Amino acid sequence: MKMCTTTLFPLFLLCVFTSYLPSTSADGMVVDTKGENVTYWGQYYIIPLERDPFSGGGADITTTGNETCPLTVIQSYNGFSDGQPLRFSSDYRRSPFLLEGDYFDIRLPGYLSCTTVFPLKWTVLAEDVESGVLYVKIKGYDNTIDGFFKTKSDPDHKGGYNLFFCDYDDECSYLTVKVDDDKSRLLVFTKSDKNRLVIQFKNSKRELKATA
Ligand SMILES: *[C@@H]1O[C@H](CO)[C@@H](O)[C@H](O)[C@H]1NC(C)=O
Ligand SMILES: *[C@@H]1O[C@H](CO)[C@@H](O)[C@H](O)[C@H]1NC(C)=O
Repeated sequence: MKMCTTTLFPLFLLCVFTSYLPSTSADGMVVDTKGENVTYWGQYYIIPLERDPFSGGGADITTTGNETCPLTVIQSYNGFSDGQPLRFSSDYRRSPFLLEGDYFDIRLPGYLSCTTVFPLKWTVLAEDVESGVLYVKIKGYDNTIDGFFKTKSDPDHKGGYNLFFCDYDDECSYLTVKVDDDKSRLLVFTKSDKNRLVIQFKNSKRELKATA
């Protein structure tokens, strides 16, 4: 900015101030397993950073309780499975690429034949809020909490991310796995970061070569 070179003190201050503001919120790019920017048009698997056969795979859906449709968001039981591809969308996005700290929605692309619900968004249930465990379901439940998801680099695991659910008061919880009585690996959000799931984003599409 040319204005920055001015010796006029108030203008200089203004310049510093205005150029300082964006940089505080200019969070890092979220990159996928290949180091490429995660986009709002692509489809991604949410998979654990550290993969092993016994501690679960990517985000998936299943039927639990009295559900007649797979509305429960889980971590795939199979550690080698990537789960279901997901898409991200945001009314508040600052770039075509996902930035750390962006608020976004998560949904499964396409339809489920057992429900007319569309889009198949991840929602967070208000039941069991006292226990501090927020269950993730595909849209269709009434008792959901309004809010958004966001992601940030994990402070302790290079290349890994944390996924958060934040309500409208910006109270955020960490993505965690809760193994239920049926041994389903439920994806839930909890206040504590102790057992947070460290994730990465894997593009579900093969790379297209830009050749004719
Ligand atoms: C990734 O994002 C950065 C920052 O917006 C941009 O400069 C860069 O061109 C992007 N990379 C690709 C391959 O689009
Ligand atoms: C499923 O069970 C819950 C309680 O466990 C109940 O509130 C809900 O109405 C049931 N749904 C259906 C479709 O039967």
